[in-house]
Amino acid sequence: MLTLTRSAALQGCSTPARRPEGLRYTSLAVVALLSIAHAQQPPPAPPGKPYVPLAADALASNSDHYVGENVTLTAAVGRVLSRSAFAVEQRPVVAKHDAKDVLVLAPILNGPVEPDKYVTVAGEVVRFDPAEIAKKVKGYQVDLPPDAIEKYRGRPAIVAKVVVNDKSVDLAMRLPPPETPEEKALDARMKKIAPAFAALRGGVDASKSDVAAQQIAVLKQAFAETESIWKQKGVAEAMKLAQDARKHVDAIEQSTTGGDWEAAKKSVATLNQSCQTCHASYRERFDDGSYRIKKAG
Ligand code: HEC
Repeated sequence: MLTLTRSAALQGCSTPARRPEGLRYTSLAVVALLSIAHAQQPPPAPPGKPYVPLAADALASNSDHYVGENVTLTAAVGRVLSRSAFAVEQRPVVAKHDAKDVLVLAPILNGPVEPDKYVTVAGEVVRFDPAEIAKKVKGYQVDLPPDAIEKYRGRPAIVAKVVVNDKSVDLAMRLPPPETPEEKALDARMKKIAPAFAALRGGVDASKSDVAAQQIAVLKQAFAETESIWKQKGVAEAMKLAQDARKHVDAIEQSTTGGDWEAAKKSVATLNQSCQTCHASYRERFDDGSYRIKKAG
């Protein structure tokens, strides 16, 4: 049930649900969750390979078969090798880490994993080679000690997108940096714009001019403020998009005061597209459901 909360968060555009800290979900749900995450991430990527559940032993002894595949694996943490790398084994084997362990590289790991505790990991199987990993995983530096690099070189490893620990916390979530003052200001405007837009749409659908007038006033002001935030930031194109959005609000106002509800509906749809155009270029979503201004590039 709680999984649905994250799914809803991933799908939400106009009414995003924030994923509460430490939201729990079962390991079985990880596969579904990942496919949703992939499907929702802009820009639209080709659908990823399905995730196949696997046992650590099977992967360690059949590595050729799985290289390039997406897998999920529930196993015990063995040696913790660095801030972003650890080994997993089929079951806890205290102080006797055997040759059948599997290396897990987690480019994002927000907290440590605990030896001998179970984790559920999901990601792509690669053949471990630091140079290949550097090419494959943008911005990630393999940080294993030299002896571990030699031990695992050529063996299968998982580049993890999800690492759910025994408290059902996904340690591999991409969390946002702290909000900048501009982001706080924009966020406050968006939190006014979203409900006002929803109410305006309802008012227009129901031909209610009082509701429309009320929400139009809120939107006009909030878009004017949005425009000036982008102006200060010096992003001409985003400033223009905010201006356009305001113009669509003006058009809606004209239609509703003139009683032309069909024209108003069309302008509502155009305004909705302005929201989406700007979000596609300038908004970035993080795994906890929060948003920030998208960084260039
Ligand atoms: C000029 C660009 C622009 C336009 C136009 C725009 N937005 Fe946004 N919106 C953003 C950016 C950038 C963010 C992320 C900033 C943040 O929340 O920190 C955002 C965030 C949001 C959020 C998430 C707020 C949160 O953190 O919970 C919602 C909801 C939203 N916008 C709704 C809308 C709707 C609805 C419209 C149109 C009626 C719209 N926006 C038009 C740029 C825009």
